[in-house]
Amino acid sequence: ETATLGLYGLGTMGSALALNILDNGFGLHVSNRSSDAVLEFVKEAGTEGLADKLTGSDSLTAMVDAMPAPRAIILMVPSGKPVDATIDMLIPLLAKGDTIIDAGNSDFRDTIRRTEGIEAQGLTFIGMGVSGGEDGARHGPSIMVGGTPAAWDATREVIEAIAAKFDGAACADHLGPGGAGHFVKTVHNGIEYADMQLIAEIYGLMRYGCNQSPSDIGAVFETWNKGALESYLVEITGNVLQAVDSETQKPAVDVILDAAGQKGTGRWTAIEAIRMGQSANVIEAAVAARAWSSEGAARTVGAGIYDAPRGELALGDGDFESALLVGRIVSYAQGFRILAAASEEFEWSIDPARTAEVWRAGCIIRSAMLDDIASAFRSDLPEGQLIFADHFAAIIKDALPALRRVVSAATAAGHAVPALASALGFLDTMGCARGTADLIQAQRDFFGRHGFVRLDGRRDQHGPWWD
Ligand code: 6PG
Repeated sequence: ETATLGLYGLGTMGSALALNILDNGFGLHVSNRSSDAVLEFVKEAGTEGLADKLTGSDSLTAMVDAMPAPRAIILMVPSGKPVDATIDMLIPLLAKGDTIIDAGNSDFRDTIRRTEGIEAQGLTFIGMGVSGGEDGARHGPSIMVGGTPAAWDATREVIEAIAAKFDGAACADHLGPGGAGHFVKTVHNGIEYADMQLIAEIYGLMRYGCNQSPSDIGAVFETWNKGALESYLVEITGNVLQAVDSETQKPAVDVILDAAGQKGTGRWTAIEAIRMGQSANVIEAAVAARAWSSEGAARTVGAGIYDAPRGELALGDGDFESALLVGRIVSYAQGFRILAAASEEFEWSIDPARTAEVWRAGCIIRSAMLDDIASAFRSDLPEGQLIFADHFAAIIKDALPALRRVVSAATAAGHAVPALASALGFLDTMGCARGTADLIQAQRDFFGRHGFVRLDGRRDQHGPWWD
């Protein structure tokens, strides 16, 4: 039996997703906390010729009443307390067999908790990550679904219909139970933060180290978007850098305060990575860079004391392109490592190849590379690490000297490149069989008798300092 569809929360993203659903021929009931938005939405849908199968209600209760069971209600409300508040209002209104779908950027731990509470009531819950901004929501986002297989079966038709398509295949899939969908979205955003930071660092080097204008740099990004770096974020960077502020006629970026906002999803990825004893250091660097960017007053004081020189760089655009490429591969690779670790811990069985495929279109981190990432995960991957896949190892080996030149020239001249340097640090660590943790083990044993493993495999050994 096909469920009647409802959508609650007609903000920017909610309205766009609702129009997308109507556009695909499905009937839809909508409502919103303030009823003005409902009237406005019905009007807008009418203008677009999409109001035939639309019903608007001025309250959640009225919306549920108007919907024959079984119902599937999509929540498009801000993550956190508003989601819990809406669920609390909904539960007494719904009947067994009804489904609640949270399509916001929820913390996957909240999703796990909500799944338990809601399913205990005989209802079904889907925690669904949606990526692609307003345009994606309207014309086809990438959708990462978490929940029971039965919940997926019941909602699959509409979710696949509204999702972005890559070579005709829907960029939507059921990736695991409970919190899996929202966790995949969280890691998506972690990678998004990393990629944005890498791009910003490269822009900074071209701008302040090579004296190129924003519009010239934008044009370079435009060219890169035709090559190995082809991606949504490189494409929009090209556009953004060439845009002019209408008020001042200056490059648009030059009138924007350099303090990055963050709602938390990128940070969650870094937190989970560290909690699981992993490290996604490029993502961590990006989270840190956003935090530091917000300390504008401190940076002004710092400039008075240290005056980072940001000296000239003798580097070509080809080096920058290669450095960005390696950085991007490492941030995807680290994201997928976290995904694998969480999938194991929570027993989600997330398929990394399917995840990469779901990200191929519609989402913010979509890039030409994702198809190759999916292939790499389908092949035999040494240690499960993307950086060891033949295809990517060849690219990295080829581009690594450029990343090295960029990071060393940048650091020598006083340019901050935390994400690029993190990528290099990771590769230089993983590309070296014997590291220096022997000393750390010796120190731990020295001060705490913690013991160590000898190279011959004998465990719980102690050093001569305890003889
Ligand atoms: C997407 C975006 C989207 C959004 C977030 C992240 O995939 O469509 O990630 O979910 O932009 O709000 O943003 P912050 O930068 O605000 O943390």
